[in-house]
Amino acid sequence: MGGPRTSIFLRQKKFQFVLVAAVVVFLIVLFPNLYDSEDYEKEYPLLLENEQLVICYESNVDSRKALYAATTLSDVTDEPSTTQRNHRQQAPQQQPQQVNGTEPVIYFVTPTYPRREQIAEIIRLGQTLMHVPRLHWIVADDTNSCSEVLNSHIRKFGIPYTQLASPMPTMYRGRKNAPRGVANRRAALNWIRQNQKKTGVLYFGDDDNTFDLKLFSEIRYTKKVSMFPVGLIGDYGISSPIVRNGRVEGFFDSWPAKRKWPVDMAGFAVSLEYLALSPNATMPFKAGYEEDEFLKSIGLKLEDIEPKARNCTEILVWHTQTKSSKSPTVRISMDRQKLDKLNLGALLRRLESMGVNHISESEGTTAQAIVNGSVKPFSFWFS
Ligand SMILES: *[C@@H]1O[C@H](CO)[C@@H](O)[C@H](O)[C@H]1NC(C)=O
Ligand SMILES: *[C@@H]1O[C@H](CO)[C@@H](O)[C@H](O)[C@H]1NC(C)=O
Ligand SMILES: *[C@@H]1O[C@H](CO)[C@@H](O)[C@H](O)[C@H]1NC(C)=O
Ligand SMILES: *[C@@H]1O[C@H](CO)[C@@H](O)[C@H](O)[C@H]1NC(C)=O
Repeated sequence: MGGPRTSIFLRQKKFQFVLVAAVVVFLIVLFPNLYDSEDYEKEYPLLLENEQLVICYESNVDSRKALYAATTLSDVTDEPSTTQRNHRQQAPQQQPQQVNGTEPVIYFVTPTYPRREQIAEIIRLGQTLMHVPRLHWIVADDTNSCSEVLNSHIRKFGIPYTQLASPMPTMYRGRKNAPRGVANRRAALNWIRQNQKKTGVLYFGDDDNTFDLKLFSEIRYTKKVSMFPVGLIGDYGISSPIVRNGRVEGFFDSWPAKRKWPVDMAGFAVSLEYLALSPNATMPFKAGYEEDEFLKSIGLKLEDIEPKARNCTEILVWHTQTKSSKSPTVRISMDRQKLDKLNLGALLRRLESMGVNHISESEGTTAQAIVNGSVKPFSFWFS
């Protein structure tokens, strides 16, 4: 009697097992990232095994003197002393190009990778950077070997530079959401550490961005971390800190994704003195969370952030990209005049006047703020 019942029971169990296995296989096929998601959770030391610092070409000589005939540009390796830096904190920002060789050096880190537009982007960016004194350009290329073609273009600008070969680890290659530019920026962080650079400013500037020259005089005297709006980002057409009374109180970015620091890579600069306090600071191979995790790894606090670009009402950097997209509509149903109590009033008017985005009361992506990692309506500031 028990026989047939057991066999039916067994058969049911077998069927359930086959069903569960089929579902698992189906899920793995549909969402391959689900399967290896624990890779993202791992903590990576600054140097992975088999990760090495390959310096391809380097120059510390600034041969752009012709552009600054009236001033003397000294070798960028002449680091200013701490007292000199503090003294210069009050330097007027009116004439950013007037330099005497004691100002903090900006270490401008550009991850790049071989593709159709690579050289065109490097030429455009290099010609912007030619106007920026006291700058060391770290170009980190996502390749196994040093590109002579890339170097022939970089060196002609006369900008002090370092060209690195920093390939993405093979385990991430070919992934749908591969963390691009991470190996490059980590290599640049290694170079900064290995060369004991402890004064100056670190800035991550991609090759497909547009930089207003004013940005450089704004970030040069960063004490800890400075932040500012980045144009052409996401469904708002902007990613910006929210500033009230000269302090950063939250963030305006259409992709909160539970990030504590929902900012773009080009939206902040870090002083090397402050970075040196976190010898383990690094960037994870976790697409979309590079900025957030990097800023967490340097122990950033909200009150340490210095808002730049006129309290975040101006756009000095743009995520241009070499493709065009439609301007997004952002839905703000509250009285927009209230936003003048924050930087957002002036910032959004400016973007709309440029046709970067449109504001509507009834349609589009609903505008929300991010405060301490959670999404809040704008009424948060006005209740
Ligand atoms: C360099 O210029 C700053 C103003 O930008 C000035 O305060 C400082 O005294 C100058 N230093 C030297 C050595 O000329
Ligand atoms: C930023 O806002 C603060 C407080 O309102 C103000 O004191 C400061 O002058 C502003 N900074 C700029 C550059 O406008
Ligand atoms: C950095 O990491 C090392 C090795 O994991 C650890 O021993 C050290 O305490 C860390 N330092 C800081 C400042 O967190
Ligand atoms: C932010 O969140 C942390 C915990 O996630 C909490 O300890 C802290 O008090 C919060 N800060 C503010 C300003 O709400």
